[in-house]
Amino acid sequence: MPETEYDVAIVGGGPGGYVAAIRASQLGAKVVLVEKDKVGGTCLNRGCIPVKAMTRSVEVYLDAKRGEEFGIKTSGLEVDFPKLMARKQQVVDRLVSGVEGLLQGSNVTVMRGSAKLASPRRLAVDGKEVAAKKIILATGSVPSRVPVPGLDLPGVVTSDDVVQLDRVPKSMVIIGGGVIGMEFASIFAAIGTKVTVVEMLPLIMPPVDEELARRFTQIARRQGMSIVTGAKVTGVRQAEGGLEVAYELSSGAQSTRAEMVLVAVGRSPYTEGLGLADLGITMNRRAVAVNDHLQTNIDGVYAIGDVTGRIMLAHVASYDGEVAVENALGKHDKATDYKVVPSVIFTIPEIAGVGLTEKQARDRPDKSGFKVGRFPLSASGRAQTLGETTGLVKVIADAETKELLGVHIMGPRACDLIAEAALAIKLEATAQDIAETIHAHPTLPETIREATLEHLEGAIHVLSRPWATPGPSM
Ligand code: NAI
Repeated sequence: MPETEYDVAIVGGGPGGYVAAIRASQLGAKVVLVEKDKVGGTCLNRGCIPVKAMTRSVEVYLDAKRGEEFGIKTSGLEVDFPKLMARKQQVVDRLVSGVEGLLQGSNVTVMRGSAKLASPRRLAVDGKEVAAKKIILATGSVPSRVPVPGLDLPGVVTSDDVVQLDRVPKSMVIIGGGVIGMEFASIFAAIGTKVTVVEMLPLIMPPVDEELARRFTQIARRQGMSIVTGAKVTGVRQAEGGLEVAYELSSGAQSTRAEMVLVAVGRSPYTEGLGLADLGITMNRRAVAVNDHLQTNIDGVYAIGDVTGRIMLAHVASYDGEVAVENALGKHDKATDYKVVPSVIFTIPEIAGVGLTEKQARDRPDKSGFKVGRFPLSASGRAQTLGETTGLVKVIADAETKELLGVHIMGPRACDLIAEAALAIKLEATAQDIAETIHAHPTLPETIREATLEHLEGAIHVLSRPWATPGPSM
């Protein structure tokens, strides 16, 4: 018999599970977190953080390469990849120990091991029993496998392997032009790898506003990437000088060769060894099925984040974690609300969006009208001083009420800028609300305000009005 009964047991210590644990502890609960690997999960150890640390090194390299343009002389510039990866690891290790410290400081018991659900109130963790009034499953996801022959060959890797590479591959074929594929494409193309992206759909990065996805495709091609769309990969085989990836286009069969093949075709909920079937937990294909309150069909058992197969983003997992814990501990009975979920893609340049894309605005069931306001980064003083003028801000608002429906940004710090738009949409703000808010000058957020002005009566720093004539020269 277990000696202690916990109020909450959480399985998985990623951004869903560890946030849930800290929140539960804040609410006065006795909490145990079971993790078989390092706390921080995929995001901290194999995903968001290492990839962003790698991207940052690449940005420093790209900036240094342009030193001359900024009046800075550089010479002997080269990428020291082992050092780049060592810095990445330092960042990861620092954050992982930060999370460990937070858990310890919050009096969360962290148990190392693999948990299996023995009953709705009991976990078996490597032979030990853990009793808890409520259980939260936060086991995340793993790279998806697709039934394509040859994906087990040496040199075929997933994102888990790429964040541990010890050298820069000369060439890489990326199967899947989704978020993971394009983030790595940006990194490796910038440091000299010949990158080919093979994407099944007609356009890369499916959830991104189509206009931005199209523009990014052009930019990526200018950066030297080869992007093949409408191409379904049929097989990978060993060939002279590396691996050959065969794919089908509507025009017929094609192939391309590279030293390394990265498979980035999505992620699947991870439930291996949890014993969910034995307990009769309802599944939604591979995902744990939950209601809006994050409850499974078994009373007292909740699931959050990627394992629910809903929105596979670290920040959604953390949000879920807070909601599930508050519901489980009876603080309130809250339903999840995913109306405002910013998406951030750390490509070069960055892409971020929140709310409806233009296509989604067009397909609104009530067919209400909308109007788009655009503002190019090249017209921003701050972007000019940064020397980062590629990109645009696109604001979509209701034609009548002016309520903001969606904001999409491509350009420097797009992933930070999107926060203003997320808050505005959450507060049901209108284009006027943003336009009437004084934005500091010279800053990048001014571009959001300018795009809302463009939606209303015209931006100040672009000549968009048909009646506008050039002002007096200054
Ligand atoms: P994804 O679903 O974003 O993209 C996978 C892509 O692969 C799709 O465009 C799909 O059409 C394509 N594809 C599938 N099968 C194919 C085939 N046989 N041949 C060619 N193309 C094929 O998945 P991804 O990029 O692996 O990311 C997984 C999850 O991780 C996503 O849910 C994503 O949101 C999340 N993620 C988010 C990040 C961020 O927010 N910055 C960063 C990394 C991952």
